Amino acid sequence: MIIKVPATSANLGPGYDAMGMSLNLYNEFTFVKTDEKIDYKDSLFYKAFSYIFDLERKAPPQVKISIKTGVPIARGLGSSATCIVAGLYAANIILGEKYSKDEILRFATDIEGHPDNVGPAILGGLVISAMEKDRVFYYKINPSKKLSYILIIPDFELETSLARSILPKKVTREDAVYNIARSNLISRAIEKGDMEMLIGIFGDKLHEPYRKKLIKDFDLYEKIARENKATIFISGAGSSMLIISSKENLEILNKLRTINENYKIMELSSGGGAEIIGKDF
Ligand code: HSE
Repeated sequence: MIIKVPATSANLGPGYDAMGMSLNLYNEFTFVKTDEKIDYKDSLFYKAFSYIFDLERKAPPQVKISIKTGVPIARGLGSSATCIVAGLYAANIILGEKYSKDEILRFATDIEGHPDNVGPAILGGLVISAMEKDRVFYYKINPSKKLSYILIIPDFELETSLARSILPKKVTREDAVYNIARSNLISRAIEKGDMEMLIGIFGDKLHEPYRKKLIKDFDLYEKIARENKATIFISGAGSSMLIISSKENLEILNKLRTINENYKIMELSSGGGAEIIGKDF
């Protein structure tokens, strides 16, 4: 059984914990039945795999899991979400695909704590979402193909738990309004490919001002974005950064490459969600 799950870039600035986009970098998970007793107890993919069997009050079968890794770890690219989604998909296939995508999304959100990575990892595209009790309400939006999605991946990891722990517990009403207004507009602007809107309003008051201090050279990349008709977001909890510009903006890639030669720069697109490549088990 093979399941391929995309990287995701969560938040897109003001959409903290509520918005995320799939990117065409993938982790591919292979699940094989085995007689060997392998202890995966602490791993996220096994936690997700056993989640559904626990729900069903069934013992999970013994599996051997291997991963072809395309999504860098602890770089704010949803690598944990890929593990959760793959584990849930695998268990669901073994149980005859009893659960729908929406149910899988709910389980994944329960495990991850927020839907902004697992949403687009399952559904693809840009997903805006809200949790209400045990349900996830969402819309999937197709990001415009007129835009270029450039990922800057630093050479260091940033633990999500650390990047969450430094955020203030309380925000002012002014800052909340700043974010609400911008996150609404950003999702539509990405759908329409409206670069003027994206340049005009990008910004965040809930997490980026605190997290950018943890990302070496963020300010230099931001300067290039501002001077070259582009936006910049911290991808998820960092350390990666996502730049959006128009496809015709060819110069910006070269300028970004001058900042830090140890950081990887990739031009990506936003495509589909998790894919089942093979169901044999
Ligand atoms: N929304 C999350 C955060 C993404 O910014 O902490 C990382 O899991």
